Amino acid sequence: MPGTLVVGSQWGDEGKGKVIDVLCAKSHLVVRYQGGPNAGHTLVVDGKKTVLHLIPSGILHNHIQCLIANGVVVDPFTIHQEIQGLKNNGYLMDNRQLRISDHCTMILPYHRALDAAREEAKGKLKIGTTGKGVGPAYEDRAARKALVFKDLFSRNLKEKIEIAIAEKNVLLKHYGKAEQNATEIYNQLQEIIPQLEPFRVADTSLLIHEAQEAKKNILFEGAQGTMLDILHGTYPYVTSSNTIAGSCFTGSGIGPKSVDKVIAITKAYATRVGSGPFPTELEDETGEFLQKEGNEFGSTTGRARRCGWLDLVALRYSYRVNGVSETAMMKLDCLSKLENIGICTSYRYKGIELKDFPSDLEILENLEPVYEYLPGWQEDIGGVKRFSDLPENCKRYIQRIEEETATPVRFVSVGPGREQSFNKTKSRS
Ligand code: IMP
Repeated sequence: MPGTLVVGSQWGDEGKGKVIDVLCAKSHLVVRYQGGPNAGHTLVVDGKKTVLHLIPSGILHNHIQCLIANGVVVDPFTIHQEIQGLKNNGYLMDNRQLRISDHCTMILPYHRALDAAREEAKGKLKIGTTGKGVGPAYEDRAARKALVFKDLFSRNLKEKIEIAIAEKNVLLKHYGKAEQNATEIYNQLQEIIPQLEPFRVADTSLLIHEAQEAKKNILFEGAQGTMLDILHGTYPYVTSSNTIAGSCFTGSGIGPKSVDKVIAITKAYATRVGSGPFPTELEDETGEFLQKEGNEFGSTTGRARRCGWLDLVALRYSYRVNGVSETAMMKLDCLSKLENIGICTSYRYKGIELKDFPSDLEILENLEPVYEYLPGWQEDIGGVKRFSDLPENCKRYIQRIEEETATPVRFVSVGPGREQSFNKTKSRS
């Protein structure tokens, strides 16, 4: 069954949007199955930049249908804005191109208010959330009191908001924040609901099933990164959803045999936005160099991302929990001009060498990364179209990562443009 799953193997922001965009050429359906508007994909097509938070990046291809499946938390105001933005830029001319599951959890303004209030109250212990209300919305889902997408079209919508908001206002008051007004939210929703209705569909899982039956190529688009997974990441400094490959099945409502390839999107160095352990962080001029070269500023919040060397201990862990079959190596061009490039091959904690990623936060925060330094390359590789044309040291860097992860690198990205990438295996030197 031709199902390809794309997951972020690090702390998010690896460049999944670009890989999805490239893979779309051979796909019919793209499915987003977890996370919410905390994600942000920046795409550059013909020099024009488009930022998407909820709608899969496949929407830029007219032949593709995009689904937002049950596992996603949807902010109706954000998705409305994205739809309008796409239409204004000449995309999404056929509404059938986008389908939103009736069962998606809604993020409403009181979730955002609560997200911000909780973070403020945590002070130094804050998670550094994106402030989009994602955590509080997933909480409501687990507590079985969330509003879902189909509720937007219910005659009882106002009553549902009033019930939900009553409890939220107690909490907001507790945090010393202004109470929210149900009528105001209801009235704001009335302005956008008619434009959202055409995208409504009862069951996205059925659409996926039908596409499978018709032997269509399906791409499953993960958001965030493995190390931010609520169960398998650096808890509590994580997001509120499962981000690993397995979440594709629960979020989409399909079986594990629906996917035959898991592509890890791996940035050639490491970044993290928000708080939490980041063993290979470089708080020096090399870190600043990576931040500048990689334009490492969040597409959702604009925050500067923390930067560091590639962490192979974390990566090996990530590949294991995701069952990765191949790597897409992103932003390789950003390493050009460095004399030496560090890769972290193990950790040292209290004199003991650790080869496996520790789950204990105390260890993670106090360990020392063990680096191997590989010689860098000085050439600009932005125009390279074949693996064989890369500088020798650059090839060696890729091959070293293949060895450490025991996984082939297939896709190599050497710049932000759609054309700045190539398939390594098609041009093996
Ligand atoms: P939340 O998902 O907004 O609750 O944020 C929880 C943590 O996940 C914070 O450290 C965020 O910075 C991080 N995070 C959430 N979404 C993304 C993403 O798409 N890329 C990178 N980090 C993210």
